[in-house]
Amino acid sequence: MKDRQLILITGTPGTGKTTIAQKLAKDLDYEHIELSRLIKIHGWHEGYDRSAHSFIVDEAKLRKQLSLFLRGNAPGNQQDHRRIIIDTHLTAILGPSKPVLVIITGCRLKTLFRRLKARRYPQKKIRENLDAEIFEVCRTDAEKRYGPEKVIDYDSAGPLKTAYPSLLRAIKKYMKHLK
Ligand SMILES: Nc1ncnc2c1ncn2[C@@H]1O[C@H](COP(=O)(O)OP(=O)(O)O)[C@@H](O)[C@H]1O
Ligand SMILES: [Mg+2]
Repeated sequence: MKDRQLILITGTPGTGKTTIAQKLAKDLDYEHIELSRLIKIHGWHEGYDRSAHSFIVDEAKLRKQLSLFLRGNAPGNQQDHRRIIIDTHLTAILGPSKPVLVIITGCRLKTLFRRLKARRYPQKKIRENLDAEIFEVCRTDAEKRYGPEKVIDYDSAGPLKTAYPSLLRAIKKYMKHLK
């Protein structure tokens, strides 16, 4: 896959990755890959940690599984034409592929707390995710890995109908300047 055809959407769980990934995939004509869904349906995990309320993931193994999946899913030369949006909080998952663009989602802590509570996450998991947002874990790692110049921020605290169109505009502008 050529690097310019890959977009990474990352950010703390609950900050809007899947919501905007679905919309962007449609509007920009990309395939959407929601990594947490693949982990679940393909069993790309080492079991379920009941106390953490999450799947246990071996990132090195997962990287290989994802890379095989991406190759295996695209017959022959179709691989060169694929345009993929990957939506995950696991910033290190892309292996040697470098995304052309990284979108980092975030929102106010109060909003995030409300969303995670609505998901019925246990208190410990809510705390961990709020900490991840406070310390900007996804941003720090993504910027280190892929470079801050590739990053576009998305704040999901505001309403989708105003926040999303301005994101779409920013992406189109960014892509245009690449050519
Ligand atoms: N401006 C916005 N952008 C994205 N999501 C929003 C926005 N405003 C409210 N939401 C809501 O926030 C939630 C985000 O959840 P989701 O997209 O699943 O996040 P993630 O994939 O990062 O865990 C959804 O319920 C969505 O409807
Ligand atoms: Mg999601």
